[in-house]
Amino acid sequence: MTYDKPVRRIAIVGTGVIGASWAAQYLARGFDVVATDPAPNAEANLREYVADAWKVLTKIGLSAGASQARLSFTRDMKQALSNADLVQENGPERIDFKIKLFADMDAATPVDSLIASSSSSLEMSIVQSQCKHPERCVIGHPFNPPHVIPLVEVVGGAKTSPAAIERAMAFYTSIGKKAIHLKKEVPGHVANRIQAALYREVLYLIEQGVLSVSDADDAVSWGPGLRWGVMGPNLQFHLGGGAGGINHFIEHLLPVMSNGLWKVLGNPSITPEFQKTLVDGVLKEAGKRSVQSLAENENEVIAELLRLRAEHG
Ligand SMILES: NC(=O)c1ccc[n+]([C@@H]2O[C@H](COP(=O)([O-])OP(=O)(O)OC[C@H]3O[C@@H](n4cnc5c(N)ncnc54)[C@H](O)[C@@H]3O)[C@@H](O)[C@H]2O)c1
Repeated sequence: MTYDKPVRRIAIVGTGVIGASWAAQYLARGFDVVATDPAPNAEANLREYVADAWKVLTKIGLSAGASQARLSFTRDMKQALSNADLVQENGPERIDFKIKLFADMDAATPVDSLIASSSSSLEMSIVQSQCKHPERCVIGHPFNPPHVIPLVEVVGGAKTSPAAIERAMAFYTSIGKKAIHLKKEVPGHVANRIQAALYREVLYLIEQGVLSVSDADDAVSWGPGLRWGVMGPNLQFHLGGGAGGINHFIEHLLPVMSNGLWKVLGNPSITPEFQKTLVDGVLKEAGKRSVQSLAENENEVIAELLRLRAEHG
């Protein structure tokens, strides 16, 4: 199977935080989207989310045919999947639940359609284990919120076919996502591992009394974070090596990191007292700004950054 039929209709299974954002993203790219979720109020919540997201999606740029009117909703999952060209699954992150959900979705979805899971931590080899057609099941893990952040991590399970991986990569790339292929399954995929490694040290520095919560945030977002929004750490250290580039960095600077700094990085103890320090610090930093207003502001700034990055190639 090559999975090369054109994608026109996308089914969203689970319309919580991530499913609603994916729905908005696919509508903005001009697809028909059919969503399903058993929660009470799911349809109303989804439509409200999509309407709110439309402002930033318009700023990022809508594709031909993009319309909120192309969203339909049904509580009947079989009906939602019966003629879907692609399924994006966003149900609760519990392994037994996902195995059963995938078996049910597999039975209801045309065999030449891909089924992608947004799962942040589960391995596709296990998730697909009860499917009759596991070869079309992939992880398509977005970075929150998927309607703004381009990264999608694609990884297959033991029974996923190379053609399905290739098709998933090509599809996400074709709609402007930055798809990366993980050649092996690893717990937490990649971006969350990187995020966790950095956050462990951020919390350690706060726990050790080196930094306040807000100074720790400044140390990331006004320093290296600004540069990481332009290019990744490997290319950064090519610049860090000066005229000698990455070769100079590896010879002279990497040993300072590997023999010195890596040995003194810490592991914070997440005690109740430390949790309180963290909560108090974050609430003080947020001030009067609600979670929603912070998220909206962040999305607008990221949309500008994406525009600038596109302008600069
Ligand atoms: N929240 C994040 O930052 C994030 C980021 C990337 C990926 N993910 C992944 O996305 C998935 C969803 O996470 P979330 O944060 O959106 O969770 P969520 O709790 O906000 O949403 C889950 C939704 O699934 C629905 N649901 C429950 N049973 C269902 C069923 N049988 N069929 C269809 N829908 C059903 C629930 O009603 C709920 O709306 C998880 O696999 C998670 O790992 C989350």
